[in-house]
Amino acid sequence: PKTNSNQGKRLTPTDIRKQKGKEPIVMLTAYTAAMARALDSHVDLLLVGDSLGMVLYGYDNTLKVTIEMMIRHGSAVVRASRHAGVVVDLPFGSYQESPQVAYRNAAMILAETGCSAVKLEGGQEMAETVSFLVQRGVPVMGHIGLTPQYINTIGGFRAQGRTASEAETLKTDAVAISEAGAFAIVAEAMPMETGAAVTKSASASIIGIGAGECCDGQILVTHDILGLAGSFKPRFVKQYVDLDAQMRTAAEDFSKEVRSRSFPNKTYNYQLKRPE
Ligand code: KIV
Repeated sequence: PKTNSNQGKRLTPTDIRKQKGKEPIVMLTAYTAAMARALDSHVDLLLVGDSLGMVLYGYDNTLKVTIEMMIRHGSAVVRASRHAGVVVDLPFGSYQESPQVAYRNAAMILAETGCSAVKLEGGQEMAETVSFLVQRGVPVMGHIGLTPQYINTIGGFRAQGRTASEAETLKTDAVAISEAGAFAIVAEAMPMETGAAVTKSASASIIGIGAGECCDGQILVTHDILGLAGSFKPRFVKQYVDLDAQMRTAAEDFSKEVRSRSFPNKTYNYQLKRPE
């Protein structure tokens, strides 16, 4: 059931910012029309994350994801949803070079997909870009902490903000991105205390993933909660069902029935038209 009061109308970045400190913000990733249809009424935001490179395409990281991929998947998710705001990730290399390059690519993604906002990774160093986009009509969600597009410089998928000075840097990042105009910020993989401090410092809504219970909202990768993401399972993932096991069972049953010629049978057959 929808829990947000804005039923019947797609939620906007402004609605999400207003939820800060009032109602928990619920966000899940979606990459296809089928996923969007199933999740739409249960969440406030759908993220067409560049995690699709890993969970849909089987890459080791998100660096090979392209703008074209984001546009295809983003359009499918927008078409198949009507309640949740849809945020599309700007892929690696599409925004880091300059605010102008970021604007050109973000505007194309916004126009081609009809999404509500784009998301980009980075702290204080991205504040100028966030401000450039927001001032020119592109709503932006930030992403700090463990930022998978920086995998080669942060040295792996590991928690951030575990020392006092790292936590202080993350607070400064959150405030800078928030003051630049981001309506929300994903805070990934940090101790609960750091997540709480970031949430308290920034006026943007903080959506945690492995950042503890004090954030303004929570997001998980949908393939992780469904048990479809393979063997790597970060500490912060709660798996709610095992669709991988169910898929294997369905395939096994289908295979047995085809081999034993018990499927198809008359229930699934078309009938000949009888001559009149
Ligand atoms: O790409 C993605 O799915 C993300 C989430 C992990 C927040 O950025």
